[in-house]
Amino acid sequence: MPPRRFQLLVAIIFFLIITLGLFGPPSSTDIPTVEEVKEKIKNPHIPSLPSLPSVPNPFKPVHKPPVQPNSNSSSSYRAIEWFNDFKWRNPFSSSITLEENRAVLPPLKERPPIYTFYDAKGKQDKAVSEAENRLILAWRRAWWAQGFKPQVLSRAEALKHPHYELVQRLKLDSKMELEMMRWLAWGHMGSGILANWLALPMASYDNPMLKFLRRKEYPKLARIETLSNGVFFGEGAAINGAIKKALDNPLFKNITANKDKIADLGNKEGGAMVNLLSKDDIIVDSKADGIAYYSNNTISSNYKPLAEKITNKIQVEGLDLLANLINSHLHLTFQNIFSDGIAVVKPLPEHTTALMYEAIDIARNLTQCPTSPIPKSCPPNNFKCKPCDPAKPIKLQLQSSYHNTSTLYTIGTVPHPYTLNSLHYTRDTLDGNFLRRNANRDQWIFEATKDLLGEKHSGQDRIIHFKEAVVAAHSPSNSLWLTAERESQADLDWIFGFNLPQVASENSDPSSPSDSSELIIFPRPAQPEPQKNVEVPEEKWIRNEEERLRKARDAIKSKDRRMQDVVDMVEKWNLADTEAWKFARAWSARRRVERRKWEEDEQKFAGAERKAGVNSQGGSGGRWIDKL
Ligand SMILES: *[C@@H]1O[C@H](CO)[C@@H](O)[C@H](O)[C@H]1NC(C)=O
Ligand SMILES: *[C@@H]1O[C@H](CO)[C@@H](O)[C@H](O)[C@H]1NC(C)=O
Ligand SMILES: *[C@@H]1O[C@H](CO)[C@@H](O)[C@H](O)[C@H]1NC(C)=O
Ligand SMILES: *[C@@H]1O[C@H](CO)[C@@H](O)[C@H](O)[C@H]1NC(C)=O
Ligand SMILES: *[C@@H]1O[C@H](CO)[C@@H](O)[C@H](O)[C@H]1NC(C)=O
Repeated sequence: MPPRRFQLLVAIIFFLIITLGLFGPPSSTDIPTVEEVKEKIKNPHIPSLPSLPSVPNPFKPVHKPPVQPNSNSSSSYRAIEWFNDFKWRNPFSSSITLEENRAVLPPLKERPPIYTFYDAKGKQDKAVSEAENRLILAWRRAWWAQGFKPQVLSRAEALKHPHYELVQRLKLDSKMELEMMRWLAWGHMGSGILANWLALPMASYDNPMLKFLRRKEYPKLARIETLSNGVFFGEGAAINGAIKKALDNPLFKNITANKDKIADLGNKEGGAMVNLLSKDDIIVDSKADGIAYYSNNTISSNYKPLAEKITNKIQVEGLDLLANLINSHLHLTFQNIFSDGIAVVKPLPEHTTALMYEAIDIARNLTQCPTSPIPKSCPPNNFKCKPCDPAKPIKLQLQSSYHNTSTLYTIGTVPHPYTLNSLHYTRDTLDGNFLRRNANRDQWIFEATKDLLGEKHSGQDRIIHFKEAVVAAHSPSNSLWLTAERESQADLDWIFGFNLPQVASENSDPSSPSDSSELIIFPRPAQPEPQKNVEVPEEKWIRNEEERLRKARDAIKSKDRRMQDVVDMVEKWNLADTEAWKFARAWSARRRVERRKWEEDEQKFAGAERKAGVNSQGGSGGRWIDKL
């Protein structure tokens, strides 16, 4: 048992925390220091704790905000709970939710719908269908990562359109009919974007075209120059107006007489539908470079080796090569955007090597040259790209603090304060005495934001900046924050929009995964250099860190009362670090729940993970692409 005086101290800290939690945090200068609290215990009459008198009555009941739907997720370290609210910038969530465990997150951004039309051919080989589904899955993932809600339409939607019968009666040739079905399906859904499933976003999140499409306001029915019939966008009324007008085209008055003319429409720029209408019905947007469209023409004129491979091979292999090419271009686009490379944040680096494994693993795969059938090629919307050079891969470095640079991608690992203190002070167990005598408060957030904010800011300011970095509310996201207690990370491919390379060349030269494979794989980048002025621990100390990390994970999970009290005390001692951990963990849990829910809704449609033969369970789910 700790000495009586200390019990009292803890009791007072608890009380303060609860009042803080209930009535919102005071400004940083109001948070009492240990000395003040000690002083207060010795001499209860000094009015040195300014937050107390200003508080009305902490025991007056207050209603908690109601629990929102889909706002929790299970975890071995107590449930993860969140509350979506505009007040998320408040440094301490509990002052809004009135609950210890619930983190306040910014409201979910609405995702504008983007549609594609896929018409599964009746008697097609299952392997071919799966390969096509994999391409559609890649399409869905890339658009999802860019903030859209990708949906795959089929004849079922077209059938619901009032003009369906009329189109059937025209007895059009199969190409023209397909184009009509695509428009009918889109018309049935109403406003939005209609894209070919080989048209994918390949640009930074704030590319003007993607930003415009995300705004969900399409004043005119339009298409994008250079993409032919790859992408259209418009309002429901305009789409259905265009369908009606196209069906009134004089060519349709006598289909037999105009057969050749109708067939020819599809070969003209813009595709059949555009050419049935007049110029002003579908305007052409010229300022677009954010979308890459792998049309037949593009493939045969720009990716000749692939076009040959596709024609020389059985179809499945051709489609999988195309999927790998597209994946490599998405990855390359990422590498070109973050030209300064990847930084792994490692604050308090002396004893935290074992915390960094996962972050460094991801960072190394991100900096590896993408696996590709044509390694030196550029995406069709950016022929001036900088291809990845295995001799000079983009930089991977360790940093002690987060830097807000738009060309540097940061991966951080947020530890629970128990984990951090146990590692940093190289102690297998923590207790109140130790904390009080030796431990600094909120060290992690202080170190992690030091370069961003300098030395002077309070823990609360730091949290607000940290939360801004996690959610990237006003800027394209340039960071990813993992939590240290979770051993594997899910959904990375939906966060980045592409698969990270899963195989690497065994030596320093590019090679192929197998003799028959047409893919080129590259060597895995080396471990990052140690930070300057930081001693590299010996292997046996790192083994100790791993053991300590395991013990800390157990401690946080523990159902034992005494252990729970200690963990609780560590959390109270490190309010800002605890808030950072809760926030980062709730943010990634919500992202996962949103994604899983979406996958459930879509599982019956083409391009679902299930249909693409992809197992989405488990940490590294969805990795299929470079296994050729
Ligand atoms: C989420 O909360 C609801 C209602 O509070 C509960 O029924 C459900 O079991 C919780 N789910 C998880 C995964 O914890
Ligand atoms: C359609 O055109 C063909 C050949 O030009 C003609 O024989 C036929 O009568 C026309 N049908 C109608 C309904 O006008
Ligand atoms: C593109 O080419 C493939 C194979 O050559 C062919 O099967 C397909 O019909 C073509 N698609 C279009 C839209 O022309
Ligand atoms: C990073 O910089 C951008 C652009 O200057 C800014 O909008 C954003 O708020 C900054 N993020 C943080 C965490 O400071
Ligand atoms: C990174 O690549 C290696 C193989 O080079 C693989 O074992 C590992 O699972 C990959 N990690 C991630 C997060 O993709």
